[in-house]
Amino acid sequence: MEALELLVRNTSEVLTLEGTHRERAEDALTPRPGACVGVRDGVIAFVGPEAQLPAGAVGAGTTVLDAQGGFVGPGFVDPHTHLVFAGERSAEFDLRNQGATYLEIAKAGGGIVGTVRATRAASEDELIQLALPRLRRLLSHGVTVAEVKSGYGLDVENELKMLRVVRRLGALTPVELVPTLLCAHAVPEEYKGRREDYVRLCIDEILPAVAREGLARFCDVFVEDSAFTVDEGRRILTAARALGLVPRLHADQLTALGASELAAELGAATADHLEQVTDAGLRALAAANVTAVLVPTSTLFLRMRPYAPGRRIRDAGLNIALGSNVNPGSAMSENVALVLGLACLENGLSAAEAYWAATRGAALSLGLQRQGRLAVGDPGDLVSFSCASYRHLPYHLGIGHARTVVKAGRVVARQELDSCG
Ligand code: NIG
Repeated sequence: MEALELLVRNTSEVLTLEGTHRERAEDALTPRPGACVGVRDGVIAFVGPEAQLPAGAVGAGTTVLDAQGGFVGPGFVDPHTHLVFAGERSAEFDLRNQGATYLEIAKAGGGIVGTVRATRAASEDELIQLALPRLRRLLSHGVTVAEVKSGYGLDVENELKMLRVVRRLGALTPVELVPTLLCAHAVPEEYKGRREDYVRLCIDEILPAVAREGLARFCDVFVEDSAFTVDEGRRILTAARALGLVPRLHADQLTALGASELAAELGAATADHLEQVTDAGLRALAAANVTAVLVPTSTLFLRMRPYAPGRRIRDAGLNIALGSNVNPGSAMSENVALVLGLACLENGLSAAEAYWAATRGAALSLGLQRQGRLAVGDPGDLVSFSCASYRHLPYHLGIGHARTVVKAGRVVARQELDSCG
């Protein structure tokens, strides 16, 4: 065997995630007790007992990583972020903690449009400098792929600016970025009383400009009282699909308006949030095989109830993906460990279901067939954790356990962490 570039040894187990969401999550994680993992040319070349490593696998150029008895799994995939933005909204956080609601703040002229003002005023370079530390924090939690939305530009120039920033960021961070156009995040202030004109701007100008430059893979719409109606969402996403962008939706976050049903009708890749999803919405999503993206940090952060009914969603047979939803308004946190903890405590998922949803389930939601998995031939994106079992990630609430993060066979983040669990 040609020498490996990286060998990770001395693990408690390696989770290769070779199952599907239709089976028991514990089985879908496909644990390999005591296995080691080898990477060559950036892809997984070996998973198995060290005794079965072919001759010549370890050479002078092989980096050998001691997992110190911790478990190893694929890099986390974060399927829902708004991590490019300027400004901050800690005053709104304070107001909400004293009783104001997200919708009240939005209706009073705060919320998303406040971040739009700050983001429009920032240059591409400034937005990059602001986003890089957020990406480093995600990386330190083990995230190796992240979706990133626009949505704080809300005009042709600034939506393009945000997506160009995402493209440039992709070359500056080890985290692989998947761009989403979210021009339908809010009706911008200058279109107050003229919402139809803004919908037309999205369809006639923003979407074609983004498609021409190939700047986004997905198009998202926030269907909500304070944002867009189901009918507007349908028109925007139908136009997006005709341009080759894959539809996804912010659905049933604060109000059940029929966004899940729309996601099903359009064959959207995902319906995100789902705190208020109805039984009919859930049935429609299941029938159309739409992935449910749960973002429980924002439910906590907005002090909303209920949390998305993760248990019912899973039992209805949907694939689930878990995201951080990093953004300045509803989830100012890059803590993936907290996401996993809340998914168990509040969405009712098992530790194995949550781990699936943060890795393989999330990769599939982004149409990434080889990520979030460690089969031979998959990308060499992996995390060596400081605990022996994935069960400790949600259990040791909010504590990061990603000791070493590897992207395409290269160590890209490392921290000294005591072993635990
Ligand atoms: O996913 N709900 C809409 N978008 C974000 C919040 C964005 C903001 O408040 O700035 C979310 O929660």
